[in-house]
Amino acid sequence: MKRFFSKIKTVKGELNFAGDKSISHRAIFFSSMAEGKSLIKNISLSEDVKSTKNIFSQLGVKFLEDESGLIVEGKGKRKFIPPANALDCGNSGTTARLLSGLLIAQDFSSVIIGDESLSKRPMKRIIEPLRQMGGNLESINFNLPIKIFPADSLNSIEYQLPVASAQVKSAILIAGLHLSEKTKVIEKFITRDHTERMLGLPVIKSDNLIVISSSEKFYPTEKDYFIPGDVSSSAFFIVLALLSKNSELVIKDVSLNPTRTGFLDILKKMNADIKIENEKQSSNEPYGDIIVHSSDLKNITVDSSIIPNIIDEIPILSVAGVFAEGNFEIRNCEELRYKESDRIKAICENLKLTGLEVEEFTDGFRISGKIKNAQVNFNSFNDHRIAMAFSVLSMLIGNECSVEGIECVGISNPNFYEQMEAIKN
Ligand code: S3P
Repeated sequence: MKRFFSKIKTVKGELNFAGDKSISHRAIFFSSMAEGKSLIKNISLSEDVKSTKNIFSQLGVKFLEDESGLIVEGKGKRKFIPPANALDCGNSGTTARLLSGLLIAQDFSSVIIGDESLSKRPMKRIIEPLRQMGGNLESINFNLPIKIFPADSLNSIEYQLPVASAQVKSAILIAGLHLSEKTKVIEKFITRDHTERMLGLPVIKSDNLIVISSSEKFYPTEKDYFIPGDVSSSAFFIVLALLSKNSELVIKDVSLNPTRTGFLDILKKMNADIKIENEKQSSNEPYGDIIVHSSDLKNITVDSSIIPNIIDEIPILSVAGVFAEGNFEIRNCEELRYKESDRIKAICENLKLTGLEVEEFTDGFRISGKIKNAQVNFNSFNDHRIAMAFSVLSMLIGNECSVEGIECVGISNPNFYEQMEAIKN
């Protein structure tokens, strides 16, 4: 499906976002693993989280939705029922990777599958450490489908993450929850820490961060969760408000977890007028309101240590970079090539259509020059964050720009276009 955009004049209003996608996945995992009833308030409406929920239904977990939220009747440790069919993660890397960590510890066989994009994404990063733990996993070329058989025995490991990935960290920690000895994950660059916060895992802060899990104290129990709004979904609206004239946008009750708000730090350094108010905590996660006013942005150098914390926001940060003074350059983010699409290629190919000068590197890209062609048909590459970033760029350029393949926005935010209509003046 193709959508046409006209130029935005100003952004005014207040937005609430459905629960954060990463936190929602984990709330479903841990409430399903716990024995008894948990309540999840403000669960994500994303297709990805629906994939996680459907898989746990196949494993025997009962879900009931009412006005209070999502009630989850969890099964308890090693009490899932063997699935009759393959477990389909759809487009969701988080589902596939965290699920692998859980399934190596079950006493039944299972098969994990996904859509075309997920079936091309690298799984060696989880298969290797989970095999070191004794996991019995089979796959061709380290891609989905992954077949998982009951393990003869599992052992704990101490694992230094070769790639900065919260999904890999979480998969190992979840497997570790089934063992009495301590499983340790060591990360050089800090990645999102929702698993640690939700399970209350001990974290040793030294040069490298070490997170520990074991079954004795940390296996999840039933509880109530409140999921703060999805800060990654809000990023598209924040950049649109910053770059349109006389704008004021208030985003209510959104996640302010510091491992997720790196893009706000970058935008502030770029001279963005962004304020945080009403900071609170729930389920160990900080959240609050973000207030944004139009700003004249300047490009800055992005330090490599912050890359894991802005990885999902690089597409929209690059749109901010197009309109900021100076040239936008980002490096050390080769990981972007292994997301829902090759995001470096997707960003570069789309930006080139506008006549901007774009230099593509293996680990990043550089944008310079001026927009020469203001009537462009961008491609979503079937990737929700590319579709949303280039919808924002289209509204900033005007002149009937369009984005082809917009249906994928539901992977993270099915309300994206309704919310855009509500704040645009
Ligand atoms: C996620 C971790 C990140 C991120 C993804 C969600 C998570 O992926 O890009 O959107 O919920 O753990 P990686 O672990 O591959 O960096």
